[in-house]
Amino acid sequence: MYEFAIDTAAPKAELYRELVRSADALTAGEPDGVANMANVAALLWEYLPDVNWTGFYRMVAGELVLGPFQGKAACIRIALGEGVCGAAAASGETQLIADVHSFPGHIACDANSASELVVPVKRDGQVIAVIDLDSPSLMRFDEDDAEGIEALAALLADRI
Ligand code: SME
Repeated sequence: MYEFAIDTAAPKAELYRELVRSADALTAGEPDGVANMANVAALLWEYLPDVNWTGFYRMVAGELVLGPFQGKAACIRIALGEGVCGAAAASGETQLIADVHSFPGHIACDANSASELVVPVKRDGQVIAVIDLDSPSLMRFDEDDAEGIEALAALLADRI
């Protein structure tokens, strides 16, 4: 069991620094990518307020396949370019979506989701996975969240 002292009142940048530090400590030296994604999905769930899904989709044979997560059971396969996750994987760019209902092609795995942040994880310039966060609140995520999750993605590039 791991206990983390999480100060949810801390400024976002500080919360993400702590989250990345915890993820670093949990994954350092562990070569199993599934174990590392599972622990990071749990950390995201524990650290971040107002989220209803936190987890990974992995790039497998040219499409995204569901990875370790916390939240409701979700769609298993997502084609490149499809939905918010597929857009992040196809473009290699972070997708910060204030209102998923106005995103063309958004895939509603959980009808409660209102906003979403998806960050690609790249190794040697190739997208190997995406980190997906959903929230039941509109405009839950901002640039600080994007930067924090991008730092996490950089840490995980050779650990998943
Ligand atoms: N909403 C995502 C699908 C994955 S779920 O949110 C877990 C999308 O549009 O790609």
